[in-house]
Amino acid sequence: MASIIDGKAFAQNLREKISRRTTQLKKETDIQPGLATVLVGEDPASHVYVRNKNRQTKAVGMASFHHELDAQTSQEALLALVNDLNHDDAVHGILVQLPLPEHIDSIAVINAIDPAKDVDGFHILNVGKLAIGEPGLVSCTPLGCLMLLKDQLGDLSGKNAVIVGRSNIVGKPMAALLLQQHCTVTIAHSRTQDLAGVCRRADILVAAVGRPEMIQGDWVKPGAVVIDVGINRVEIEGKAKLVGDVDFSAAAEHAAAITPVPGGVGPMTIACLLYNTYQAACMQHGMEDRMMAL
Ligand code: GUN
Repeated sequence: MASIIDGKAFAQNLREKISRRTTQLKKETDIQPGLATVLVGEDPASHVYVRNKNRQTKAVGMASFHHELDAQTSQEALLALVNDLNHDDAVHGILVQLPLPEHIDSIAVINAIDPAKDVDGFHILNVGKLAIGEPGLVSCTPLGCLMLLKDQLGDLSGKNAVIVGRSNIVGKPMAALLLQQHCTVTIAHSRTQDLAGVCRRADILVAAVGRPEMIQGDWVKPGAVVIDVGINRVEIEGKAKLVGDVDFSAAAEHAAAITPVPGGVGPMTIACLLYNTYQAACMQHGMEDRMMAL
């Protein structure tokens, strides 16, 4: 049976480390890392996510600046706010919660963020840096997955990594990160032929497709490490339940280690947002020597 990767405990440990570093930074340099969140409109799930981000930002001792704009806000007004935050020295990280209302061009807004403050790692410059292996800010969910993988396996060099899903937020940056770690990387997706066969070759299997329990147990190579990024709300016997993209109990019979849903990758995302904010504050003040190694 697989060991269960405790993302919740790992994330808590990471937040404690960030909190200690933040306290030390403030004491020695009077710099307090600050994160600004921008939320446009009424989407209830987005409100919950952003509230959690702000709560955890304060809990590690960082400054939290929250901006809420109504759903009718113009793109110009949003760009003006981003521009103000770009020039605010107390703000080291800027997060514009997605999705934005339809009348707003999300790509234009993301690319208006100062790349040095782009703690989501969504800016085209950070995406490009990741693609060519230059240091930059990396998207939080794939970064969290990499931390869990390195904790499990240590050196990833030469491993066969299969990522199921090709999104800009998870699949593609995950592939770039694993390539940087010298894995042999395959990105599989809905048009992949013999998906089961491709998955069976994976020493590292990352599932990020958003389809409940799509990855079957016998698609998992014996001894593989399985990272399940999916968070799918399903109804089982009239009860709402969260499940991943992997059939957890069947996969656990084959894998060496596997992340559960909930409690696996999920808690890592916000912890990595705080990690990026701390790193961004250090970089903006020329203190690369204070940054936390991965
Ligand atoms: N909406 C859902 N996930 C995310 C995220 O990681 N960042 C932002 N900005 N919006 C999101």
